[in-house]
Order: sequence, then C-alpha cells, then structure tokens
Amino acid sequence: MKLYAAPLEGMTNDLWRPIHAALFGGADRYFTPFVSPNATYKFQTKELNELTHNEGLPVIPQILTNSADHFLWAAREMADMGYREINFNLGCPSGTVTAKRKGAGMLSYPDDLERLLTDIFDGLPAGMRLSVKTRVGKESTQEWGRLLAIYNQFPLSELIVHPRVQKEFYRGHAHRELMADTLAATWLPLCYNGDIFTPAAAVAVAREYPTLIALMMGRGLMADPALLRRIRGGDAATREELRQYHDALWEAYRARLGGDLNAIYRMRELWNYLSGSFEDTDKFLKSVRKAKTGSEYLAAVERLFAENELSDNPHPPEGK
Ligand SMILES: Cc1cc2nc3c(=O)[nH]c(=O)nc-3n(C[C@H](O)[C@H](O)[C@H](O)COP(=O)(O)O)c2cc1C
Repeated sequence: MKLYAAPLEGMTNDLWRPIHAALFGGADRYFTPFVSPNATYKFQTKELNELTHNEGLPVIPQILTNSADHFLWAAREMADMGYREINFNLGCPSGTVTAKRKGAGMLSYPDDLERLLTDIFDGLPAGMRLSVKTRVGKESTQEWGRLLAIYNQFPLSELIVHPRVQKEFYRGHAHRELMADTLAATWLPLCYNGDIFTPAAAVAVAREYPTLIALMMGRGLMADPALLRRIRGGDAATREELRQYHDALWEAYRARLGGDLNAIYRMRELWNYLSGSFEDTDKFLKSVRKAKTGSEYLAAVERLFAENELSDNPHPPEGK
C-alpha cells in the first residue's frame, strides 16, 4: 500500500517537501496545497513556487475551482511544466471556499459536479491523469451514495476519500466505516485519508481494507515527520533529525519571506502540530506565541530541544 503526504495549506509546500523527503525518506506522493486558477489566467507567485520547485520528487499538483475553463487552463499549464497527473480538490471545508461552491461546497450540487467533471474530462490534455480528493458530503453522509455514483462514471486515476462531511470540518472522527461500502461500490482505485496519526492506526486501516491502494496522512505527518518511515517499519525521529528538520525549515522560510517575523508566523503554525513530538510543550508554545524576534524564537526552540522529552507516541495535539 502506498503512503501519501496530504496537502496542508501553509505547511506542506515546496519548501517543506524536499526537506521532509531528504530527512525522513519521503512519501510515495506529495500533493501540493491547492492552486486556485481564475479569470486572470495567471498563477500567483506562491502558486508558481508550488509548481516549479519539485525536481526529483513525486509531486501531484492540486486544483481548486468550479470552472471547467479555469481548470483546463491550469491543466494545460501543468502539462507544459511536465506534470502527468493532477488532483481536483472537492473537499476543502472552509466557509469562504464553499460559499463560492468550490471544494466541498460543490458536493451540494451533484448535477453541476457531474457536468463539471464531464467538461473537464472532455478537455483534459492528452496523457494527463486526474484524481479527485473528496469529502463524503456537505451536510450528511447520506449524500455519499449519489456522489460516489457520479465519480464512478469517470476514469479517475484515484479517488482519495476523506470520510467526513463539510460541516464537520476536522471535528470528531472520520467515518472510516464508510470505506467498506465504498470499496464494494466502486471500481476506482481508492485512497483513504483521515485521522491516521500512528503506525498502529495505519496498520489497522490497511488490515481492515486491504484493497485500498494508498493511505494519505496530513496532521499526523506534521506532528511526527517520521510517521511514514515508521509505518514502513523504520525508526522514530531522533532529536537530531527533528532539530535538522526545524532548522532547515526556519532558514528556508526566512530566506523566502525575507524576515524573521513572517518566518515565526509560519513556524508557529508548524509547532501547533510538531509540538506533538515532545512532552509538556505548554510553556514552549506560549513562548513561541510571544516571540517577536528571531532571537526570542530561537531561544525558546533551544530550550525545548535541551529540556523536553521526546514523546514516544507523537500525535497531533488535542483540537488540531
Ligand atoms: C491546515 C490545513 C490545511 C489544509 N489544506 C488542504 C489543501 O490545500 N488541500 C486539500 O485537499 N486538503 C487540505 N487539508 C485537508 C488535509 O489534506 C486532509 O484531508 C485532512 O487534514 C484529513 O487528513 P488527516 O486526518 O491525515 O490530517 C488541509 C487541512 C488542514 C488541517
């Protein structure tokens, strides 16, 4: 079973991917956070960065839109850049996205979704594969049967299912039990995504659903960058590896964002999850939230690495 790194806006970007791959062995596939093509027919700088710094890595770019025209423009650009597979985001739960009928917002309009996929497949560049990453409904899991029947009509290279509905955001538990009926009702290659935070959880899903082709991990991988290596039977992250991982990201963000403060914002986001690799991080997280200069921030990090135990069960903190 393949192991994928989920797209996480603001975290699993073009700076993070090579650092993660070099230190922790890499994912079978990395999915970019979404790019959002629009009527300007131009990618933003941030989007171009996502698309153009991926040499030597198995990266699948992700598109978020509800327009076949915008999708196909982006697909042609990506084909010219050498990509042979694209992922379509039909799962983003954010209110600003769904209000525009994008991401999981599209799931409330199955007829439009079917038309959109038809138009996209009609115009897809030759040789381009298309996978979908989806939630199982907008309001209720009752919507999933209809949505799956739509996906079944198209030659998707993979269907990546995060079995929550939009209105659940990331709360509660993924409805993993839906995978049994889903596997029975589709011929599409299926990837499962949701709440796999430990090697034991990955093994349990793989045992329960052996015909899945892949597992995708997001928050668990941010809490424990060695998660995929551990699932493959390798070692847990060492303190030195975590330090190298941190230092490489810090330097990369400082260089990209041109200053300590912006880099600190990014590192705060990272630590919301990566703190799960350490014990007793309340004090540390408070200091990181307070830090206004690079030296204040680095002093907090120094103390964490010098004083805190590594967790023997790294896990995203409660509520993340
Ligand atoms: C901060 C954050 C940003 C995310 N950004 C994206 C995104 O750009 N595209 C996407 O398809 N999913 C995005 N997701 C959803 C994840 O890819 C994944 O589906 C979700 O976190 C469930 O998997 P997990 O339980 O392994 O984290 C995001 C999730 C979080 C928490």
